[in-house]
Amino acid sequence: MHPPFITHPPFLIIAIDGGAASGKSSTARALSERFNLLHVDTGSFYRAITAELVRRGIAPEDLDALRATLPALAPGTRVEGRAARMEIAGRAPAPAELRGPAVNAAVSHFAAVPEVRAALLAYQRGQAGVARAHGFRGLVMEGRDIGTVIFPDADLRVFLHADPEERARRRALEGQQDSIAERDRLDTRRKTAPLAIPPGATAIDSTHLTLAQVVEHLSALVAATSPPPAA
Ligand code: CDP
Ligand code: CDP
Repeated sequence: MHPPFITHPPFLIIAIDGGAASGKSSTARALSERFNLLHVDTGSFYRAITAELVRRGIAPEDLDALRATLPALAPGTRVEGRAARMEIAGRAPAPAELRGPAVNAAVSHFAAVPEVRAALLAYQRGQAGVARAHGFRGLVMEGRDIGTVIFPDADLRVFLHADPEERARRRALEGQQDSIAERDRLDTRRKTAPLAIPPGATAIDSTHLTLAQVVEHLSALVAATSPPPAA
């Protein structure tokens, strides 16, 4: 007698990149719900590291302090609903802290430092293991270098655009104080893992599209990538 042949649907990886307020998080959240994926917002990881370094009084230029501190942070992951949250020393910073003005102003400066990016590389790739351990069918990861550096072989690579004026309007509607043009400039011009369209990515300009339209378009692409799991 042969043991029963068990088939697992393939583990799905979706990479979404784009500038600030291009719609990455809202789109990724919607796809995570529709396709049972872990939602990994890597911007929140850079923000959590930044909040911790700011709290310790470390400046992005202080490489000695960064080299001494980063390996000791050893972040963990807490899964809340479908979202992965970074914990440092057992504490996940509140979303309000992560999106406060101090972190908004500092995050792109820390994110341009190769040591900071290197410290986060394995942690981000390790989210696939977190997703598997929690029974998700895959993950949708959003950021600036997901399709170019973190998961260049993702099943689907997406790059979201929107005009700067529209993106500023979206952030203002959320009541956030955030100079997104300055972050975009720093993120695009840095030497290590700059914001760029990954090879083979599906690029979507959402300036005149609703969130629902973007999600419908991408859902069709995800559904075409692999068959849905058996109910
Ligand atoms: O939500 P928003 O698009 O405004 O920003 P975010 O995704 O929370 O990312 C905050 C900052 O983290 C970005 O401006 C980048 O400097 C940095 N980041 C990065 O360098 N690489 C990533 N994969 C994700 C974020
Ligand atoms: O993650 P990212 O910074 O790229 O953007 P987001 O936080 O998902 O989106 C910023 C805001 O724009 C949210 O309030 C979304 O609901 C809104 N949005 C929109 O109005 N139209 C879209 N096509 C996408 C997002």
